[in-house]
Amino acid sequence: MPDVNPADEAPEENPGDREWHRRARADYAVSRWQRATPPRFRDAEATLPEVIGWADRALTDNAAAGALLLTGLTGTGKTHQAYGALRRIAAGGPDRFELIAVNSADMYGNLRPSQVMGAAEHELQRLSRVQYLLLDDLGTAKTSEWTEEVTYRLINYRYNHCLPTIITSNLPARDENGPDLSDFVGARVASRLAEMVTTLVPMIGADRRRGGRAA
Ligand SMILES: Nc1ncnc2c1ncn2[C@@H]1O[C@H](COP(=O)(O)OP(=O)(O)OP(=O)(O)O)[C@@H](O)[C@H]1O
Ligand SMILES: [Mg+2]
Repeated sequence: MPDVNPADEAPEENPGDREWHRRARADYAVSRWQRATPPRFRDAEATLPEVIGWADRALTDNAAAGALLLTGLTGTGKTHQAYGALRRIAAGGPDRFELIAVNSADMYGNLRPSQVMGAAEHELQRLSRVQYLLLDDLGTAKTSEWTEEVTYRLINYRYNHCLPTIITSNLPARDENGPDLSDFVGARVASRLAEMVTTLVPMIGADRRRGGRAA
């Protein structure tokens, strides 16, 4: 009988193999991603080259990834790309994978001072510190001094600690003639975002919910 090393035949079965470990980490990370992802986006895949590029950089150098900002009109596929980016990172088999995905209107709702002492503060810490944060639909809530303060504390922490963040918004990053994201978040956050956002993707196209396709 020929002397065949089983590891040569099926390296994927060998727990000593690097690829085996990477795949085990990917399985774990993808299952975390699935738990954090609502059913609508379970099949989400990053398809835009800029989004794929950001996810790949986040996988190789977490602290250098900065923020991915997806802007555009309703139904252009921002949330889809955002979940897709996180899935791509998970599937790459990162050393560590933790994420929270939150709609910004829900976030402000959850952070309102509650009866439970310290619950809102605890929630803000959780969102500030998590390895990956998806902040979906920033700019839809009504602004107030309070929303600005919450956004400032969240973004300032993530900025200081170089934590990868994905933001989607219906507002353009900048618009001289109309409301933009800077107006919503306030000057201090806008300045930090200007440095944090390494990839800005203005999405165009018709509303996919009405049968349109992004260009
Ligand atoms: N590349 C894609 N392939 C297949 N389906 C997609 C793709 N992009 C988006 N969709 C689907 O189109 C619909 C709208 O996409 P999505 O919710 O991501 O839009 P959005 O830009 O986040 O809109 P809104 O600003 O209203 O939140 C969803 O049902 C989504 O699953
Ligand atoms: Mg969306």
